[in-house]
Amino acid sequence: LIEAVNAREILDSRGNPTVEVEVLLDDGIVQRAAVPSGASTGAFEAYELRDGDKSRYSGKGVLKAVAAVVDELGPAVEGVDAADQRVIDEILIDTDGTENKSRTGANAILGVSLAVAKAAADSADLPLFRYLGGPNAHVLPVPLFNVINGGEHADNGIDFQEFFLAPIGADSFSESLRWGAETYHVLKGELKAAGFSTGLGDEGGFAPDLPSNREGLDFLVKAIEKAGFTPGRDIAVGLDVAATEFFADGVYTVEGKPWSAEKLTDYFAGLVNDYPIVTIEDALAEDDWDNWKALTDKIGTQVQLVGDDLFVTNPERLAKGIQLGVANSLLVKVNQIGTLSETLDAVELAHRSGYTTMFSHRSGETEDTTIADLVVAVNSGQIKSGAPARSERVAKYNQLLRIEEELGDAAEFIGRAAFPRYKG
Ligand code: PGA
Ligand code: ZN
Repeated sequence: LIEAVNAREILDSRGNPTVEVEVLLDDGIVQRAAVPSGASTGAFEAYELRDGDKSRYSGKGVLKAVAAVVDELGPAVEGVDAADQRVIDEILIDTDGTENKSRTGANAILGVSLAVAKAAADSADLPLFRYLGGPNAHVLPVPLFNVINGGEHADNGIDFQEFFLAPIGADSFSESLRWGAETYHVLKGELKAAGFSTGLGDEGGFAPDLPSNREGLDFLVKAIEKAGFTPGRDIAVGLDVAATEFFADGVYTVEGKPWSAEKLTDYFAGLVNDYPIVTIEDALAEDDWDNWKALTDKIGTQVQLVGDDLFVTNPERLAKGIQLGVANSLLVKVNQIGTLSETLDAVELAHRSGYTTMFSHRSGETEDTTIADLVVAVNSGQIKSGAPARSERVAKYNQLLRIEEELGDAAEFIGRAAFPRYKG
C-alpha cells in the first residue's frame, strides 16, 4: 500500500526546474521518478504547470506542481495498492478534474504515476520492464540517435529539428549502440574538417550551421561510410522535422522561403528516394490533417511517418489519425499525456491498428530511465533518446544495456523489422 508521497523541485538537463516524486510503500520500499520537459511542445499536450513567478527561475519554477503532489495527489492515493496502476491513474485524473490536467499539472500527475509503478515493481521484486510487460517483454529497441540538432534545440539555421542514425543492421542492442557511437565520433571529425562547429545541441547531437537540410543528410551518409558501415543496410537515417515549429498561416518556411504543404510533401518524396531514410516524424504541422493524409497516401508505404505533435500520445487524437489513415506510427512521450495508463492505452491502440511505436525522451531530460523499461515492456522496437552523448541521453541507452544483460538469451533485437515500411 502507498504510505506517503513526497515531491521536490530539481533541475533538468537544460538547467530548468522540474518535478521529482518519491513514493513510500508500507513495506518500506521507496522509489522516485523525475519528469521530462519539451521545447517544441505540441499545442495538444497535457498541461505542464509552471509557477510563473518571475522572481524564481524566470517564472519556470514548479513549486505549485510540487505542492499539488504533496497536498492533493499524494493524499488521494495514500492507502491504495501500488499495483493497482489504473485505479491510481484514475484517481489522479479525477483529483485534477480538468480535461488537460491543467489544475494540478501533468508534470505533477506523471511524477506520481511513474513513481508508483516503480515502487510497485520493486515491491514485487521485479525489474520495471518485467513488472509492466510480463513474461513476454523481450524486444530490445533500435536506438535512433539524434546526432544533428536543429530547430528549437540548437542555435543554428537548420530548419529540421533532428537527424537520426538508426543502426538497423546490428545483431543486438549493444552492437547498435556501439555502431551509433562510432559513427557519431566520425561525424564529429567530418564536421570539424569541413569547418563547422561541433558544439552540442540540447539532445547531445552536433549543432553545425549547415546551409540546407540535405547537407545534414549528406553528412550522415558520409559518416556512416567512413565509419565502415553501409548506409541503409547497416545504418539507416531518419528525421524529426518538427514542422509545426516553422508553420504559420498555411505556409511552411523552409530554408528561408515560403513552401506549400504540397511542395514540402514532394520534397520528402525526393529525400526518401535519395537517402536511406526509414522514418520521418512530424513531417507536417500538428493540425494540417488533410495534407498529412495526402503525405501518407504518397509515401506512407515506403517510410515510417511518425506523429509526435500530431498525436501527442493521446488515444483520442491517435484514433482520429487511424480513422483518417494519417501517419503510420506513434511517438510515445509519457509527459504528453500525463499518466502511465493512458500512455499504455495509446500504445495498445497503435499496435492493434498496425501502427508502429517509437518511445521518446524530451529535449529537457533528467537521469530518470523509465522509458528504457517501458519500450521493452511493450516490445515496441524503437526508442529515441538523443545522441550517444550527454549523461541524461546515455542514461536510457545504458539502462537498455542492463535490460539486455538481464534478458540474456531471451533478448531479441529485431533491427530493420522494426520498420515494416522501410523500402530497403
Ligand atoms: P521536445 O522535442 O522534447 O522539445 O518536444 C522532441 C521532439 O520533438 O520529438
Ligand atoms: Zn518530435
